[in-house]
Formats: sequence, C-alpha cells, structure tokens
Amino acid sequence: MGGSTLRLSLRQGSPTTAESEARDIAPVIDSKAAADARSVIRRWEGYAPTPLVPLNKLATQLGVKSVWCKDESGRFGLGSFKSLGGAFGVLRALQDEIEGRTKQRPSAEELWAGHPEASLITTTTASAGNHGRSVAWGSSQFGCTCVVVLPEDAHPARAQAIESHGAQVVRFEGSYDEAVGYTEQEAERNGWLIVSDTAYNGYEETPMRIMEGYTVLADEMLQSLAAESVDLTHLFIQTGVGGLATGVCSHLVKELGVRRPRFIAVEPWRADCFGRSLRSGKQVFAEPPFETEMGGLAAGIPSTIAWTFLGQYLDAALALPESVWQIGAMALGTGELGARIAAGPSGASGVGALVALTRLPGLAKLLDFQPDSQVGALITEARFY
Ligand SMILES: Cc1ncc(COP(=O)(O)O)c(C=O)c1O
Repeated sequence: MGGSTLRLSLRQGSPTTAESEARDIAPVIDSKAAADARSVIRRWEGYAPTPLVPLNKLATQLGVKSVWCKDESGRFGLGSFKSLGGAFGVLRALQDEIEGRTKQRPSAEELWAGHPEASLITTTTASAGNHGRSVAWGSSQFGCTCVVVLPEDAHPARAQAIESHGAQVVRFEGSYDEAVGYTEQEAERNGWLIVSDTAYNGYEETPMRIMEGYTVLADEMLQSLAAESVDLTHLFIQTGVGGLATGVCSHLVKELGVRRPRFIAVEPWRADCFGRSLRSGKQVFAEPPFETEMGGLAAGIPSTIAWTFLGQYLDAALALPESVWQIGAMALGTGELGARIAAGPSGASGVGALVALTRLPGLAKLLDFQPDSQVGALITEARFY
C-alpha cells in the first residue's frame, strides 16, 4: 500500500508563502456563474449550511492556535460534499439539452416541478461513488433516467446508495480514469447526456459548473470563519481529479486575494498526481494500481481545468499512506480531537494528515506551522460502511 510516512511535495522554486505572491490573482471560475450556482443550490429542498467544527485538542497537539474542520458528512443527507456539484451539473446539462431540443430554456423551478422533456433523457457519469450518487439523486429529482459507471473496486455500499435513487449501476473492470473513457463511448453510442465531474479535452463546461456548485462550501466556510474572527493560514484539501480543490480554492482566492491560506493537497500515496506535478513543475499523471481505500481520491489524471488553476495556486501536496486516513477516522470517531465525527476514508484523510503531522514536527515546520497558525481541513464524506 505504499510508504509508511507522509511524502511532502512543495511547489517548485517557491516557499509555501501565500503572502509572498506578487502575481495577478486569476481564479478560473466565473464569479457571476458561481454566484448563480450558489443561489440555485441554496433554494434546493433540504439545503442547510454544514458546520465548521473546532478541533481544539488537535490544535494543542499541533502547537497551533486553532484547527477547524468543515464537516460535509451531512450534506443534503447524501453523505458528502459531492451532492453540491453533480446534481447541479445535471440541472444545467438538462437546461442546455432541453433548450437545444425545444428552443426554450427551462428554469430550475420548471425542472423541479417536472418537465416532460426530462423524462426522455438519460444522464450518465463515471464515478468512484459520491459524484455518481449526486448525479443519480439530481436525475431522480428531475425525472430522468441515470446510468452510473463504477470502477470494479468500488465498495458494494456505493452501488447500493446510487441504486437507492433509482439509477442503474454498471460495473467497469478497470480504474476510475479508464471508466471515464468508457462512459464517454457508451454515452456516444446510446445518446446519453454525460455529467462528469472531471474535465478532459473537449469536455469542460459541465465540470466547470460542478466546481461552481462547490463554491457553496467555500462561501459557507468564509461566513463561519468571519463569525469566529478567524483568518485561516493553511487549508488541507483532498484531491481526486482536483474539482473540489479548484472550486473551493478559487473562491477563496477571489474573496481573500493574498490573504488566502496556503493550499495543501492531500492524496493517496500512489494516486499522487498533484504532488508529482508540483515536483516536476508540469502536469504528470499517476498510474494505477492505486491500492487505496480512499476511493474518492484514487485518480491519477487531474481534471484539465483543475491543473490550470492548481498548478498556479497549490502550495504543497501530501501523499498519504493508508495508515493516515485510518488514524484520522479513528481519532474523529472517538472524539479525542475535540469533536466526534464518523468519517469515511477519503473524508478523514485531511484530518488524518494533521494527526500524522503532530508526530512529524520537521514536516510541520516545512509547511510553516507556527504558534499563531489557524489550520482548516475538510471532512468530505461520512462513513458509509
Ligand atoms: C469523499 C471525497 N473527497 C474528496 C474527493 C475529491 O474530489 P475531486 O475529485 O473533485 O478532487 C472525492 C471525489 O470523489 C470524494 O468522493
């Protein structure tokens, strides 16, 4: 399963100091489109902001001023932040498709009320589990058919969760990255509408919208931090294809400029495409097998949009051995860090990295942890099984 300790990669030729940034701030996500996305998602039935939870005991152990984790485990009752993006991607893709067919663009409200054209459309995506669930959930709300392609090693509980929204699950013998290509071919063959969260050459509009959806998380986090008068100095953020990190960090860059926190990607030991790319100063893929329980992060090919942004703004990346998410999940589960949260492997990995850093002061120093540092992390998913 890879190494036994964390592997740190720093952005080439640069210390991890956001404050030293003299470049123009150029977030990739269009502000107006993202604001529209937030307004739509906040009107979605069941919407409620997720909590920003202090982990005071972890802060003491790390020797920093505070640690905060944004707990996405309860988002829309679907168990992960992905519910913000996929379902919204379905909405926008349906609007485009129906407009193309009827020359009239339905509003979100018209689609929520049930649009006759929607029932004629089949959506599809490849997924490690959470994105597929969000697409299945959104599709069921709009009355369209949905087919989700899961890589063979995705846990059966993932398939059941997707099927519970009425979608069909197709098992693909291969990795997530290969499943993306297979889904594209099947969509072409069957006339299905792809709602992928990863962007590739020729397919960027829907992934961009999905990232716009993730700005809800960042926006809520900024509001919670302002209420606590906290300025984060570091944000640890899980990366699979990099959509989450691009959506969230882009919004923080736009709102905070050079006051943004350092962005530190966390990824599985072998699926470390962002760490490799940081070290090389250019985009480098990671090859399967990834041998990780962190299924949501088991991607070796970054989204094209993600690398465009993260190649400029990511300060560092940590590749994690399996033991790291395990210590994170266990410590969150017992409440010993200051809050009790049931997190799955990908979800617990950011906090796991912080727990590991309590025992690795040399690495913490390289990341510039100071007594007045205020550190953020995301719990991106609940424990499913
Ligand atoms: C729980 C969880 N965390 C983090 C991620 C990473 O998100 P992204 O692939 O957008 O980088 C995923 C992706 O599936 C996920 O399911």
